[in-house]
Amino acid sequence: MITKKRKRPVMTVHKKVRKAVFPVAGLGTRFLPATKAVPKEMLTVVDRPVIQYVVDEAREAGIEHFIFVTGRNKAVIEDYFDVQYELYSTLAERGLDDRLERLQRMQPMPGQTSFTRQQVPLGLGHAVWCARDLVGDEPFALLLPDMIMQSETGCLKEMVRLYGETGSNVVAVQECNPVDAHKYGIVAKGDDVAGGFEITGMVEKPEPGTAPSNQYINGRYILQPEIFPLLAEQERGAGNEIQLTDAMLKLKKMQPFFGYNYTGRTFDCGSPEGFVEANVAFALWRPDIHQSVARSISELLESTTPLERRKIAR
Ligand code: UTP
Repeated sequence: MITKKRKRPVMTVHKKVRKAVFPVAGLGTRFLPATKAVPKEMLTVVDRPVIQYVVDEAREAGIEHFIFVTGRNKAVIEDYFDVQYELYSTLAERGLDDRLERLQRMQPMPGQTSFTRQQVPLGLGHAVWCARDLVGDEPFALLLPDMIMQSETGCLKEMVRLYGETGSNVVAVQECNPVDAHKYGIVAKGDDVAGGFEITGMVEKPEPGTAPSNQYINGRYILQPEIFPLLAEQERGAGNEIQLTDAMLKLKKMQPFFGYNYTGRTFDCGSPEGFVEANVAFALWRPDIHQSVARSISELLESTTPLERRKIAR
């Protein structure tokens, strides 16, 4: 008897995104004087440092290894992710089990973190390039740690889902006010693909009125390792820095890029106003403090004196 062989559907399995890079070597000049002594990634939003939110987002997306590109005065970030035996045993002795469990849940496992130094802050592209050996020959996620996000499902988790369908490179985008487009990296939209879309063009900080859309790149990327030789060219771009977008534009000539339309909230914690907004938004999200914070905010708004209102208007 002749048995007919069934044709298997052709399925492309893309290499898993296991590693995430967190560039934390920037000087944080917009947040001086606080950042003279404290890295901006360690400033707290409610009760957690900014960097914890981003690491949690990566962990939720299935990331197994966390790579930090640090710089001078950033050693506290490495300490933060270490086990603190004395603190843990004191919490256990005092029966503060819920606090201990919370800390342990946030703690990366031994061997899950790597740290390298950028040495000189030559730009985001240069910081990413510093992680080349730690990333190796595999796709990786890149999360800008001063951008923190608020949504039921994390932005990176959704990007990993899209990447599972498309492979290649994925960046998250969000709508901005068209008058602000010149401040950001902007993408041009092509066809819809698997809940995302094809990116047909990218431009860093377009001249006012020339942006191809109002979709800005919000600080989350999944990139192929072929970005590294392009970054190695160390070409200086805007602000005389080695820009990631310039290397992505070169990579786009070789590989497709897809966009994931993120609809949650993004806060730029590198700027004082974004940081304050993040604190308010995350405090209002917390069931244990929501009520008291909401009450205080409305009381503060109601009790603003005419003099204060005049100052604010200025
Ligand atoms: P930013 O431009 O927002 O950070 O870079 P910055 O340079 O610290 O900020 P200001 O303008 O002086 O306030 C985006 C991300 O890239 C990292 C930053 O730490 C931030 O997470 N970065 C930037 C580096 O790691 N190295 C650099 O040379 C530049």
